[in-house]
Amino acid sequence: MSEGTRIRKIAIATGGGDAPGLNAVIRAVVLSALQRGWEVYGIRDGFTGLMLPEEYVEGGLVRLTRDRVRGITHLGGTILGTTNRGNPTRYPIRCTDGTIEYVDRSDELIRAFCMRQLDALISVGGDGSMAIANTLAQKGLWVVGVPKTIDNDLDRTVVTFGFNTAVSFATECLDRLHATAASHRRVIVVEVMGRYAGWIALESGVAGSADAILIPEVPYDLELVAAKIRAREEQGRNFSLVVVAEGAMPKGGSVTVASHEAGRSERLGGVGAKVAADLQEFTGKETRLVVLGHLLRGGSPTPYDRLVALRFGAAAVRALSEGQRGVMVALDPPFVEYVPLEESTQRMKTVPLDSDTMLTARDLGISFGD
Ligand code: F6P
Repeated sequence: MSEGTRIRKIAIATGGGDAPGLNAVIRAVVLSALQRGWEVYGIRDGFTGLMLPEEYVEGGLVRLTRDRVRGITHLGGTILGTTNRGNPTRYPIRCTDGTIEYVDRSDELIRAFCMRQLDALISVGGDGSMAIANTLAQKGLWVVGVPKTIDNDLDRTVVTFGFNTAVSFATECLDRLHATAASHRRVIVVEVMGRYAGWIALESGVAGSADAILIPEVPYDLELVAAKIRAREEQGRNFSLVVVAEGAMPKGGSVTVASHEAGRSERLGGVGAKVAADLQEFTGKETRLVVLGHLLRGGSPTPYDRLVALRFGAAAVRALSEGQRGVMVALDPPFVEYVPLEESTQRMKTVPLDSDTMLTARDLGISFGD
């Protein structure tokens, strides 16, 4: 008899930045679990609902019924709420002198989990959430992870849901910006999210016919981008679109950090403004900046992302019913596989410089500023 047959109650948590497709995962988990006769509870705001239940009027745990997850597949965001603060393994505490200390509250979280008589956890999140899930699994909690991020930087899965939606929206924006850039003979710099990986910039830039794409994997020299813009001018192409990943950096320089905040990783942002100012100076052309930011995370998931998310949610429940623990569901087309959680966060998945999309971009004449 499989260990999964002893499950009665499971919990699901969504952690880290939201990504389109989270609600589809929740719905798939709930419907698949209900079919097996299990009860499903959603933890509010990452793990906060379990750790600080008194902060919630209806409690930090929400019973997820068929009705509660009706009609949510196409909705962006997460009905459970999320947070990229309050990591239970490194919880920030403000001391009386104003300094911040970090304490490990994972045992407390596991105790709260057991006290609510929950048998297993499905943890949906990015690298930070998978690392937390791995710690909890190593401490004995029955956990299955579901990878999400618009950044596509999680290793061991071919893709994460949210990424396709972000690329689609960025591409649509580039299509729109082409018209206005051409009409005014301007350079338009478009900054996109992606943290330390250039996936969103690369894929939207190629699909949206950018003239230059700056990604963290290829430190740039703006003189070379300016030369590309000037060469276009000589061919009568009086406008240019430059896509900049928020993690892009100049040769010999470093990433542009928007802020350092206690209890979370550094927040990137601002490189687009520097690139736009410098390109205006180097080319003498009027330059504008568009920062797509959180627009990339909102909105309805594309059909592709909905499908990946629904498959991941159903696969996570199958994993539990097969008695799998300490694993992350992962896309390895045409299959969804289970990979050890500890392997999912060993390295960040960045753009391989010899990948076909990179080669295609170079063959199309797109500049990377190198
Ligand atoms: O990881 C997703 C992501 O959107 C990154 O691309 C971005 O750097 C970060 O989250 C932004 O975080 P926040 O929502 O806290 O500003």
